[in-house]
This record gives sequence, C-alpha cells and structure tokens, in this order.
Amino acid sequence: MTAASQILDRVLVLEMVRVTEAAAIAAAKLIGRGDEKAADAAAVEAMRAALNELYMDGTVVIGEGERDEAPMLFIGEKVGSAIGKGPKIDIALDPLEGTTITAKAGPNALAVLAVAEEGNLLNAPDVYMDKIAVGPGYSPNIVNLDKTVAENVNAVAKEKGVAPGDLIVCVLDRPRHEKLIAELRALGCGVMLIPDGDVAGVIATTNPDTTVDIYMGSGGAPEGVLAAAALRCVGGQFKGRLLFRNDDERSRARKWGIEDLDKIYDLEELAKGDCIFAATGVTDGSLLAGVKTLRDGRVTTETVVMRASSGTVRWVKSEHRKDGYFG
Ligand code: FBP
Repeated sequence: MTAASQILDRVLVLEMVRVTEAAAIAAAKLIGRGDEKAADAAAVEAMRAALNELYMDGTVVIGEGERDEAPMLFIGEKVGSAIGKGPKIDIALDPLEGTTITAKAGPNALAVLAVAEEGNLLNAPDVYMDKIAVGPGYSPNIVNLDKTVAENVNAVAKEKGVAPGDLIVCVLDRPRHEKLIAELRALGCGVMLIPDGDVAGVIATTNPDTTVDIYMGSGGAPEGVLAAAALRCVGGQFKGRLLFRNDDERSRARKWGIEDLDKIYDLEELAKGDCIFAATGVTDGSLLAGVKTLRDGRVTTETVVMRASSGTVRWVKSEHRKDGYFG
C-alpha cells in the first residue's frame, strides 16, 4: 500500500469534489451549444475559483497550456488560498476533458483533476502519448508498448481465459489509428471506437460493466497522467510513451526536464506516492452521469473521488440549489 500523505490529508479529499463539481456545472450550461471554447473557458474559470478557496500552496503542473497560451490554469500557475504557507500540492487538471463532446452533447465529457505532493506528478508536455492500459487482476507487465498488438492481446486473453477474439479494445476514433484498428479486427477483437475522451476510455478498463478489456492508442500526454493517477487509485496497469511530431515538441519536453524521450513510463512514474483523483460527469457517460437541471432549478451532479494510499473510491451524488453555492 502506498504510504498515506499527511500533506494530502490536510487538503480534504472531499474538497476535490467541490472543485470538479464547479467546473462540470459551469461547462454543462454550454452542452450542445456548438461552442467548444466557451464551454472550456467556463469550466476553467469555475475550477480556478474553486481551487483558490482551498487552504494549500498549489501549483498547476498539468493545465491548460503554457503561460503564453493560456490565461488561466496555465502550467506553473499558483493556486490556493495559502500560497507560501500552506501544504505544497501539485495539481494536474483538465477542467473540461471532452470539449468537442460537450459542444456536440456527446457522451463521456468530464471535469477532472489529480493532486499529489509536490514533485509526484510527471510534468508532461502537451504532446501525444502512446498508451496501453488494462484493469486490475492481471500479472505485472502483462501489456507493454514494446510488445506487438498481437502479443498484448494474446497475453490478456490467455490470463482472462478467453479467445483473443472475445476481447473488447477501446481506441480513439482517429485516422492515425487505422493500422491499429485493422490489426485488432484481424485478431477478431471487438473495437470500441470513442470520438474523444481517453481519460474515461482508460478508466473504462477497470469497470467490468463497460466490457472494455484493453485501452490502446495515442492521445494527449496530460490526459495520460490524469488517467494514470486514476488507475493508481483503483488498480490496473498503464504504460505511456511520449510521441513527438517535431523538434519544437522535443525541446518542450526537455524544458520540462524529460531527458529520455523514448522512455516507457509506468503508472508510478506518471503519478507517484499518494494521490487523489476526482472527476465529475459533464455529459452522461460510462463512468458517471452528467449534470442535470431539474424542473425546480436544482442541479444534480455525480462525482467519483479516489485516493491511492487507501484505495477508497467514493461516489458522490450531489444536489445543488439554484441559489446555492454554484447558482
Ligand atoms: P479536449 O477535451 O482537450 O478536446 O481533449 C479531448 C481528447 O479526446 C482527449 O481525451 C485525448 O487525449 C485527446 O483529445 C486526443 O487528441 P486528438 O483529438 O488530437 O486526437
């Protein structure tokens, strides 16, 4: 078991719920309005305001981008009400994971964050990451990015006691994944193509109700760290390798202290020590129900918050009065 962090004890787990709830409720007002930027901006502003109420000396290590490209929640931004005196906390966040989904009222948009003691979350640059994940219960290193697609699928099928063709693999629906999808179909696997939102896609491997056995393919590196933090709490395996399209991306990575550009990262290298992961549904999805407005104006939310040291997973359903905290 991971040693519990006294520093994280002081930033109450349930306080994180309020932060992701705030972002989700703000973004939900723009569900289906076709405006990705406005939905993202609303979530960012609400999440930042909620973070600034917490007694901590927080630093955004994964955020909305670098200082010159993001006005709020940029990488390196200090948040919290006790800067210089409170517990030092690193925060990886995505106030709206699934901006396009939200704009189109599709499934699985989330407001997400992970927190850990200073220095425990990989400062991943905003590049792509090749990812592979499975849920809990398999032998260590059953899947890896240095194995072929067939080797990974066969290994999981063997331990699960089924044929490779009985496995369901979740993949982001992108032209860059054509070859991967063809290889999986040639093995007989069911391929669940998702339009966006690979944090939820990775977490789906941990929930038997989703029927997803493996997550494969490339998506955002920041989302990879967030998904890894979640798997640290609920179990499961994840490997990630940064993918660089040009020298600018390589130099960005070096700037964040990454020396081995081909490294395959394990869960503990992406999110070390004790950490807390929280997500609130914006739109309905496999993990969480989305934000709903009732006829009397009350708003309901569903959030999952979990902690690595204890493995506790809390499902929080909240009702918010129209004139209440988030009104
Ligand atoms: P946004 O919320 O920033 O739009 O990200 C959605 C997402 O689907 C992520 O879940 C995923 O990691 C990434 O985009 C994939 O990037 P791309 O759309 O360039 O393939």
